[in-house]
Amino acid sequence: MNLTLENLPRTIDVGIDGGEAVVVLVDQRRLPGELVYLRTSSWRTLVDAVKTLAVRGAPAIGVAGAAAVMLAAFEYAAEEDFDQLLADASRAIAAARPTAVNLAWGVDRARETASEARQARETPQETAEALCRLTEALIAEDEAVNRRIGAHGAELLRGLAKSGENARPLNILTHCNAGSLATAFYGTALGVIYAAAQEGLINRVYADETRPVNQGARLTVWELAQAGVPVTLQCDNMAASLMEQSLVDAVVVGADRIAANGDAANKIGTLGLAVLAHFYDVPFYVAAPTSTIDCTMKSGAEIPIEERDGTEVLPDPIPGVAVRNPAFDVTPHRLITAIVTEEGVWEPVC
Ligand code: MRU
Repeated sequence: MNLTLENLPRTIDVGIDGGEAVVVLVDQRRLPGELVYLRTSSWRTLVDAVKTLAVRGAPAIGVAGAAAVMLAAFEYAAEEDFDQLLADASRAIAAARPTAVNLAWGVDRARETASEARQARETPQETAEALCRLTEALIAEDEAVNRRIGAHGAELLRGLAKSGENARPLNILTHCNAGSLATAFYGTALGVIYAAAQEGLINRVYADETRPVNQGARLTVWELAQAGVPVTLQCDNMAASLMEQSLVDAVVVGADRIAANGDAANKIGTLGLAVLAHFYDVPFYVAAPTSTIDCTMKSGAEIPIEERDGTEVLPDPIPGVAVRNPAFDVTPHRLITAIVTEEGVWEPVC
């Protein structure tokens, strides 16, 4: 397979242009129709981009969180109450989406950098510049972490592909988009697939549509096609029949928050796949950076689940009809074969 990762866009970038801080991100609301970039110097616009899923995916919103704190620092650099304004903005940024712990993680990293700079008596402008350097470093760090997750995950898939009488390239099922678009670059679950594809271990990826926002149908299939990985789109309710026909060798998904006991929150519908995989004896892998592990939460029951607007499910509301729209569900650790991080397989011990 000839991988063409160079066709994938950089999800998010930051810089200083003519003295003004700028964040540039792929506007994922417009994919797959058009690849357009949103460019902003306003932290509020960036928060809105997070809320409306222009930028989405746990690691990508972690970087976006740090970038938003940077923009706020530049915006308030001339204000007397800089520290208070930055603290207030940071709180609002961290609250933009509740489930993915990476957002709060990115904001916390930025807050630490800002407070170290202020303790070292740096000016607000110097603090803002330090935050720009931090965000650049987080972007590079995220790609490096994802490539390490990919290498560890490929090792597991190599074991599957080479074992048994029918040693052959694998069919992988994935849900939502835990790809390059969900990170600074390369992806977590799709990073595992890219690393395995490079070794000839992948036959085909089946991508769930992922109702109601269709990250699978809009983003994952586009991304895999760009990268040169054979992909088949299916509706969410087709996974059981695919497994019944023995067409899935492994499920690989990402995560938004992993509790200390290994329970993992991910896009709504992931739990159903895990139950199916258990029934059909298909390995179920979660690929995520260690920044997605939240040891303050003992189990998945404590993970806050984002409830999004019902119009995502039913665009034209019908009087008298209530709509549920939890954006995530929690897969209990007993249904997860392995959690793959940049440090290798993570055992729930923290
Ligand atoms: O609502 P989204 O699109 O931000 O949800 C994204 C997911 O659930 C991903 O699977 C998860 O963040 C892992 S991304 C590497």
